[in-house]
Amino acid sequence: MLNQREHWGSRIGLILAVAGNAIGLGNFLRFPVQAADNGGGAFMIPYMISFILLGIPLVWVEWALGRYGGERGHGTAIAVFDLIWKKPFAKYLGILGVIIPLVVVVYYTYIESWTLLYSFFSLINKLPSTPVSDGLQDYLKPFENFLASLIGANSSSEVFLNPPWYTYLFFVITLLLNLYILHRGVSAGIEKVAKFAMPTIFIMAFLLLVRVFTLTSPEGRNLLDGLGFLWNPDFSALKDPKVWLAAAGQIFFTLSIGFGAILTYASYLKPKSDIALNGLASASVNEFAEVILGGSIAITASVIFFGIAATQQIASQGAFNLGFMALPAIFANIPYGEFFGFIWFLLLFFAGITSSIALMQPAIAFLEDELGFSRDKAVITLGIFLFISANIPIFLKGALDELDFWIGTFSLVIFALLETITFVWILGSKKAWEELNRYADIKVPKIFYYILTYISPAFLIVILLWWTFTDLPTKLVPNNINAWIARGFILLTVIIGVILVKIAWEKKNGRTSS
Ligand code: TRP
Repeated sequence: MLNQREHWGSRIGLILAVAGNAIGLGNFLRFPVQAADNGGGAFMIPYMISFILLGIPLVWVEWALGRYGGERGHGTAIAVFDLIWKKPFAKYLGILGVIIPLVVVVYYTYIESWTLLYSFFSLINKLPSTPVSDGLQDYLKPFENFLASLIGANSSSEVFLNPPWYTYLFFVITLLLNLYILHRGVSAGIEKVAKFAMPTIFIMAFLLLVRVFTLTSPEGRNLLDGLGFLWNPDFSALKDPKVWLAAAGQIFFTLSIGFGAILTYASYLKPKSDIALNGLASASVNEFAEVILGGSIAITASVIFFGIAATQQIASQGAFNLGFMALPAIFANIPYGEFFGFIWFLLLFFAGITSSIALMQPAIAFLEDELGFSRDKAVITLGIFLFISANIPIFLKGALDELDFWIGTFSLVIFALLETITFVWILGSKKAWEELNRYADIKVPKIFYYILTYISPAFLIVILLWWTFTDLPTKLVPNNINAWIARGFILLTVIIGVILVKIAWEKKNGRTSS
């Protein structure tokens, strides 16, 4: 018996939901920092090349695998790999497509809850105010302290963080909101939220854009200085592998590829749906939100206000410094700053929540499709898991970074490679090409056949090898106990995953053979 799967309600709802999946903290926080850190205009060329050679093809791979699974009643890589490989071990490789988003969401939701807190604090005017002064440090210090006290990093302990109660409260609210949306389901929950949140994000971004574009600095810098930083291309950067790696990594992160989350969303397509145009459209919406909106707000404001050198210095100090420190410091110095701060952080929260529900859905799909859980039972199971595990990044110093490296950076390249291999090599590149073009509303240029078959896998292998030899050795020997706890947690999640998959397939085989 084929189980009745849920479906998206409308095409526009589908595109907004997938765009909501992709548009997240990465667009507004991570992109500006990566761009600034890698030379501004120098970053943009490898970035765009990666988008075409890696981003678009992998987006299509995930959409195609997802629709393939959905048509057969399954919404995770576990079942899809099983269907295509027809080998018992393949489903265990697919576990990555549930574990990666699940572990990432453990800390992603926590960071998302900070944006809600900042938004609220900005509204009630409780963010620090900075005196106008000429030293960069004078501007930023209060915000650095604020963030440190928010996450409890100012405690004297070497091992523990000690966040105040309201940090925890905002986290609980954020997690409950996520779970509530998921409990409403794909169309009445995820799609409905995306249809409201996405246009709202664009309106808020537009308001901020207008404000930033009319910003001037005491030294007389203006919009042109701000935009020039990102839009003066620098071809010499093409020779620097570090910039390539950063660009490719950002493409992965921002398009949500290599996580299995797009795959799950695509599994809820209505029968006979196009994927070629839908995939391209949602990826393009994401790029618009990233390059035009994400690139023009934080980075432009900071370059205008603090100058290029200072902006690069801020960005190099940490992934959150532009968004959580430089921007509120600027807002503190302009009229109605608390209103713009409120909008900025609310925008981040909306972008975050439409991504975190997408990160949670693969686990829900697995519990429903393969273990026969009801939706509510699946949501409650996930909720319990997340409430317990989130304490790791909340209370253990350095655990967040450790999880982010292994799962949020390294594993997803491996998983993307597995997906590509499954699609173009195991299914076969001819069949893969047919799959992509089935019911397609656009004609995909034939060149993408070759990109998909040869260039994208080669690109992935090069990235993987590069990381293995440069980054990995320094990460293998962690210097503290918390890193080991984080690794233990990852291992435990994998073991639970393997056991659940085993149980699910034994049950199925029992059913079919009896
Ligand atoms: N793309 C999201 C962002 O820009 C983050 C993200 C990465 C994500 N992988 C994902 C979101 C998978 C949902 C599902 O912030």
